[in-house]
Amino acid sequence: ADTTFINIINKYAPDPKWEFPRSQLVIEQTLGEGEFGKVLRAKAQNIAGKAGLTTVAVKTLKDDARESELNDLLSEYQLLKEVSHPNVIRLLGVCTAPGGPVYLIIEYAEFGSLRNYLRRTRHLQQNSNLNMVQKEEYACHYDEPKVSDVTPKDLLSFAWQICNGMGYLSDMKLVHRDLAARNVLLSEEKVCKVSDFGLTRDVYEDNAYLKRSKGRVPVKWMAPESLADHIYTTKSDVWSFGILIWELVTLGATPYPGIAVQNLFHLLRQGYRMERPDNCSPGLYKIMRSCWHIDPEQRPSFLELSKWFAKLLEDKM
Ligand code: ADE
Repeated sequence: ADTTFINIINKYAPDPKWEFPRSQLVIEQTLGEGEFGKVLRAKAQNIAGKAGLTTVAVKTLKDDARESELNDLLSEYQLLKEVSHPNVIRLLGVCTAPGGPVYLIIEYAEFGSLRNYLRRTRHLQQNSNLNMVQKEEYACHYDEPKVSDVTPKDLLSFAWQICNGMGYLSDMKLVHRDLAARNVLLSEEKVCKVSDFGLTRDVYEDNAYLKRSKGRVPVKWMAPESLADHIYTTKSDVWSFGILIWELVTLGATPYPGIAVQNLFHLLRQGYRMERPDNCSPGLYKIMRSCWHIDPEQRPSFLELSKWFAKLLEDKM
């Protein structure tokens, strides 16, 4: 049988279990835009078994998107249907019926992307001499979404949660390929949600992606074997996770500051790695370095990483 054909048919066939009426969705504003995709904030009525209005995020295409981007969005939909973990973004429904754009309805994360959250908290650290009332005022007037203080323990907890989400995905034999702080969302109660499985990349947010014939490539998060041979495995996700730890410690800095992406592969192969950031404990630095082993097999698993972070968190208690 022609499995490609069957896959295409299945991708376009409406799934009554997930289909949600567009008439019960009110779009409110744009949360983010990529090259071909965008994310909107909306209110959904009676979604996913919850009565009344729920704030949701809606992933859709821009008007000038190509067929391949629609395919990416539908692939992400197929994938999201299969996953269920507290640290992985959850699908709530989908609008694929004729008569309107394709919408993936996902849970709303009120703090937005982890990278932007970390960068917003920098202002708070700077103003740590403010009193409580002033801080609240500042948080209210500064910007949507919310900001709040972030402690070293919060950062360890984020790392631990992301490990758990990634461990789940690797158990499901899923390789993310684009793990980075910009692709982790932070929901209420500071819960991290691994998201953006579908190659819908936020290319406007920063210059993380080098333009190539087939989309953009997040060079500074990629393992050497991915850069050289396009090999993507859970172990290359672990490399990216090491970069993500570095992003956490630096409150959302861009990795390899001052280094051009064109030179990176050569440097990595020569053994060059980022140095220990200020405020990073030697123990935490050792963990990130273990993720950057040139031999993928020598890198830790997400399960091992999760245990190490659990231990570090215990020490903070
Ligand atoms: N930006 C992108 N996806 C989002 C989501 N699910 N919630 C909040 N902000 C987002």
